Amino acid sequence: MDVIIRPDTASAVKLTARLIADAINAKPDFKLGLATGGTMEAVYAELAAMNRAGQVDFSLVRTFNLDEYIGLPADDPNSYRYYMNHHLFDHVNIDPRNTHLPDGMATDEEAEAEAYEAAMADAGGIDLQLLGIGNDGHIGFNEPLSSFSSRTSARYLTPETYRQNCVYFNPPESMPRRAFTMGVGTILDARRIVMLITGSRKAAIAARAIEGPLTSMVTGSAVQLHPDAVVILDAEAAAGLTCREYCDDAFNNDPKWAAYR
Ligand code: F6R
Repeated sequence: MDVIIRPDTASAVKLTARLIADAINAKPDFKLGLATGGTMEAVYAELAAMNRAGQVDFSLVRTFNLDEYIGLPADDPNSYRYYMNHHLFDHVNIDPRNTHLPDGMATDEEAEAEAYEAAMADAGGIDLQLLGIGNDGHIGFNEPLSSFSSRTSARYLTPETYRQNCVYFNPPESMPRRAFTMGVGTILDARRIVMLITGSRKAAIAARAIEGPLTSMVTGSAVQLHPDAVVILDAEAAAGLTCREYCDDAFNNDPKWAAYR
């Protein structure tokens, strides 16, 4: 696992967007796994700016999002479909038919989850999965106790996730308590993982995910199992890491990061 610490949020975001853009440019029919949430808004703004500047082409890219609230239609401003349209898809040259999220209104939840897994497999699997991390350590909506071998399915959200996300809803109590999410096993199948963690609020959980024991109580710790994972943090989010000296030394001197310094 590569852990890269940038001095501020803006440079952590820029590095994340550049890694994604370079990967797309190297393989135009790229399969990109996407996340939502506050952390990712700046990444999508950066990718949209790079697209406008002709630095990345989404015309053949296919996307699969990690998760979607159950019970919200696509046009609900709190649905993740709406978020993705608003923050990324409406601003880049992607074919909307190539963008995928679970259908939060599906009546047969098991069939929807199976179809989502099948769509990813039919596409040839995810080349790069973008991840954030929740206050409770979740990736996607894999709440504490989610199995590391779990697949896409409907889940019940924790009180911590409710407190984290209900601020976006009006009234807050209207936030759905259930969501579809790719499983931890689904996420680990991606060929590369890029996780972005920013802000002091995430410092404690970042340290548990990156340096702590593998545990389903912090599903973000599963990234330690992935053979090609890079975790990018700003200085505030990295404050609790004991590996900071090594991380900085590796980023500043390992030739594989030369283009990104
Ligand atoms: C959402 C998702 C979540 C978020 C996490 C962090 O698609 O995958 O795991 O990445 O809840 O959210 P923010 O960035 O709002 O702190």
